Amino acid sequence: KIIILDFGSQVTQLIARRVRELQVYCEIHPYNHIPTIDSSVKGIILSGSPCSVRDEDSPRVDLSLFGELPILGICYGAQLLAHQGGGSVQASQHREYGRAHLTGTKDSILWDEISNSSQVWMSHGDTIMELPSQYEIIGSTESVKVAAFAHTSKPIFGIQFHPEVTHSTEGSIILRNFVVKVCDCTQDWTSDSFVETTVANLKEKLGQDKVVLGLSGGVDSSVAAVLLHRAIGKNLYCIFVDNGLLRKDEFEQVLESYHSLGLNVKGVDSKQRFYDALAGLSDPELKRKAIGKTFIDVFDHEAHAIEGVAWLGQGTIYPDVIESVSVKGPSATIKSHHNVGGLPDFMKLKVVEPLNTLFKDEVRKVGKTLGIPQEILGRHPFPGPGLAIRILGDITPEKVDILQKVDAIFINGLKSEGLYDQVWQAGAILLPIHSVGVMGDERTYEQVVALRAVSSLDGMTADWCHLPYEFLGKISNEIINKVKGVNRVVYDISSKPPATIEWE
Ligand code: XMP
Repeated sequence: KIIILDFGSQVTQLIARRVRELQVYCEIHPYNHIPTIDSSVKGIILSGSPCSVRDEDSPRVDLSLFGELPILGICYGAQLLAHQGGGSVQASQHREYGRAHLTGTKDSILWDEISNSSQVWMSHGDTIMELPSQYEIIGSTESVKVAAFAHTSKPIFGIQFHPEVTHSTEGSIILRNFVVKVCDCTQDWTSDSFVETTVANLKEKLGQDKVVLGLSGGVDSSVAAVLLHRAIGKNLYCIFVDNGLLRKDEFEQVLESYHSLGLNVKGVDSKQRFYDALAGLSDPELKRKAIGKTFIDVFDHEAHAIEGVAWLGQGTIYPDVIESVSVKGPSATIKSHHNVGGLPDFMKLKVVEPLNTLFKDEVRKVGKTLGIPQEILGRHPFPGPGLAIRILGDITPEKVDILQKVDAIFINGLKSEGLYDQVWQAGAILLPIHSVGVMGDERTYEQVVALRAVSSLDGMTADWCHLPYEFLGKISNEIINKVKGVNRVVYDISSKPPATIEWE
């Protein structure tokens, strides 16, 4: 495997993704929490950073820890190699940001199959002015002389640009040259091999133990469940709670799919409990808290009913586990998710998280390998508090009913027009206002709904989708004609930031 040391760059996760795309396993670790370097580690990548090596207290790393292993420094990582080796790094005249063209000034294994004048992406405030004597320049751009360098006798490289971003058009080839040709990693990390080794490991770890897992209908918990089921069969007890805030008919449909996947799943109808807990609450955070607490109560009760259960299974994925290190200094730590005291019993169980090394797209690939149907794997993300945060103001079963009908028309429309997979997330929002309309000869005074569809990669930023007007018109007509109590439909054309995806 490859170890990526994170110095706090915004794009460290992208390095890992690119390496994984090469079917080479890699892990990200904070620069100040270096894991044991055993024989499974074939190479080290040093990430970028918002810091400057010129600052006394900027992050450092003791390179001797890596013995003779190959090292690739990217941006700050490259400057660190130069600086720690005795070279000179100085503030650039202007901060360099954007496209540049790389010329290989010396033959290097890194440049195998790279075209001359390859486009690369620069983003740095410091520049390497002088290399230590043990390094030599291997590539330059129009404005940066030391754009890439190599050690004269060891497999150590530094590159000033960012090969991990797509604007570096041949960046993946450069990374491949490093991880495959320099580090000698084999490209065999596939979803098949992941499933095989994970199932074997789970079998060994769990033995005859029982595991309880909460299913949400989403991709992550579903894939985690099927993987665990492969390993331990009926000793996996799944719980799927109907909180009364799911999409129309979703509880029944998802339960049905889970049964057909062979999972041992108990559907728990707790609608009324959630509605009771939500009664009279309008504040979004109070609604979230009430839903969270009710879920914990229901789940704890169900977990208690499983005699001798020893583990809590979770669909945690890699981005939930890693957080870019805080670069404020050596005290930087990864956020701790472990609370102490006052926990419900199920939270005291040992935790098993079979997907905690995977990115989202990898989870989908593993799901495919496991034979999980596309209707589960391709689902849009859906918030835990469900429709409660799409009904602005207080929640009643009647409002849920209206919103479920509206949402179903919208989502089914997206599916039948072939638009569903082009949209990252979509849904409808029930607004707490009435508007005047006219139907036949009658004046109406009914509710307004907003439709929202966004494109995004990870939910952190999002653009509103430019859905065809004809489609929006058709959906609006259908909603107003079919859903009693709604006489107006609007479309949300805000992007995130500054808006958010959900309205609450
Ligand atoms: P926002 O509204 O913050 O949403 O732009 C980003 C993504 O997070 C989802 N979301 C939630 N998911 N519990 C969840 O499990 C929540 O309380 C919650 N709030 C927002 C939202 O659906 C979108 O995918």
